[in-house]
Amino acid sequence: MSTPVTSSLLKGQTVVVSGIGPGLGSAIALRCAANGANVVLAARTQSRLDELAAQVRDLGVRALTVATDITDEAAAINLRDAALAEFGRVDTLVNNAFVIPSRKPFAETDFQHIRDALELTVFGALRLTQLFTPALEESKGSVVNINSMVLRHSQERFGSYKLAKTALLSMSQSLATELGPKGIRVNSVAPGYIWGPMLQSYFAHQAGKYGTTVEQIYEHTASASDLKRLPEPDQIADAVVFLASPMAIAITGQCLDVNCGEYHN
Ligand SMILES: NC(=O)c1ccc[n+]([C@@H]2O[C@H](COP(=O)([O-])OP(=O)(O)OC[C@H]3O[C@@H](n4cnc5c(N)ncnc54)[C@H](OP(=O)(O)O)[C@@H]3O)[C@@H](O)[C@H]2O)c1
Repeated sequence: MSTPVTSSLLKGQTVVVSGIGPGLGSAIALRCAANGANVVLAARTQSRLDELAAQVRDLGVRALTVATDITDEAAAINLRDAALAEFGRVDTLVNNAFVIPSRKPFAETDFQHIRDALELTVFGALRLTQLFTPALEESKGSVVNINSMVLRHSQERFGSYKLAKTALLSMSQSLATELGPKGIRVNSVAPGYIWGPMLQSYFAHQAGKYGTTVEQIYEHTASASDLKRLPEPDQIADAVVFLASPMAIAITGQCLDVNCGEYHN
């Protein structure tokens, strides 16, 4: 993953990224760092946070790691307290946490699975937004919620995922209205298929299973988009950087689709 230091667009900002995984979460943290922000890295796996923190520091900014399960109130409070103790301010909260959703049709989906998806995607993001609101009010900062192209289609077996992500979008819009008077902006980024580690290993698995190649599956998948390619993690992360930056100072309540034109919002 290439992460050149590109600008000082976020210089002086503290960005909290919740849900640091190998894919988009890492890319968001690195792109924010490359644009001058100090970053707070939160997820449940401390070893991944430590590894990424070293890469962030190599870019010349500060990183704080806080092992956090965002569905746990006490852990989320600890994240907020640790971030403020270390940096004294928070300018941007990025809600990215994700687990692979059940691909079962609704008829076969048990309710607990749907509750778990809502607990993470919706209540997890809301909990952090509530906790960081005073700090964001002070900094006149913003929240960026990572959504998905699933908003734009109703394909079979995406029901639970779509249910959670549409709820996240609705919540983001209402939060924009509620928090706007405090000077806090709330926006969403909706990626298409992300050409990152998860999709790459999935395509490799599919290629082995069906006796085809990763390149053929890529081409077939990308053929549905205007640009005939799939967005990469850094390209999605740059949309987050934009929304977090002063360049987006008049933008709130919006959802920016980053899908190479696969769907037109
Ligand atoms: N991958 C795609 O093709 C795709 C397409 C469209 C949209 N998106 C969206 O993009 C975002 C990132 O997806 P990604 O696949 O690139 O994932 P990622 O950023 O690589 O990983 C997300 C991380 O969230 C963390 N997480 C899960 N549950 C958590 C919890 N309870 N508390 C704290 N952290 C938690 C996990 O780390 P731990 O296990 O260490 O906690 C996981 O590694 C998601 O919001 C997803 O819906 C992805």
